[in-house]
Amino acid sequence: MRMAPVIPVIVVDEVEHAVPLAEALVAGGLRVLEVTMRTPAALPAIAAMKQVPGAVVGAGTVTNPDELEDALTAGSEFIVSPGLTEPLARACIGAQVPFLPGIANASDIMRGLDLGLRHFKFFPAMAAGGLPALKALAAPFGQCLFCPTGGIGPDNAGEWLAFPPVLCVGGSWVAPRGAPDTHKIETLAREASGMRP
Ligand code: 3PG
Repeated sequence: MRMAPVIPVIVVDEVEHAVPLAEALVAGGLRVLEVTMRTPAALPAIAAMKQVPGAVVGAGTVTNPDELEDALTAGSEFIVSPGLTEPLARACIGAQVPFLPGIANASDIMRGLDLGLRHFKFFPAMAAGGLPALKALAAPFGQCLFCPTGGIGPDNAGEWLAFPPVLCVGGSWVAPRGAPDTHKIETLAREASGMRP
């Protein structure tokens, strides 16, 4: 969460897109790459992207221990989930893999704290109330740090990153779907990598 201000949320439709996309993002300064397990290409894409020097590749949209196992077999270095369930959290803790679960309310955070977690994805960030909602939620949980994701883009990422409990934001805007326009993606990544105040 401290390696770059933005974690690209990536959907890979064709495995051939994976390496050029990862190379462009890393060249632009975004080394931490979240590949969502929403397409058949996701697992081979994770394995391929890991060969890109400098890339730290994890799996997103992991929702249960079976998917965790697939993600780890593919070589995922971290795990992101849209929510927080005890079975998945315990499996991630057991596997000693960095885990960023989604939270959207105080009870979610309290369940995470009970499991020993302190770092959370605030999801879906804009639909769940935006920055005012996270400020209100973070107030009683001063020990927690956040990666808001969902509805964040170049126009509002800076406001989120200016709130100290926000270590980074997640977003798909730096990795548009389809065949990668590597020049454009590197430019988007370079802009994003300079966003932390
Ligand atoms: C997602 O669900 O794909 C992520 O939350 C990314 O959301 P975004 O497309 O709004 O950046």
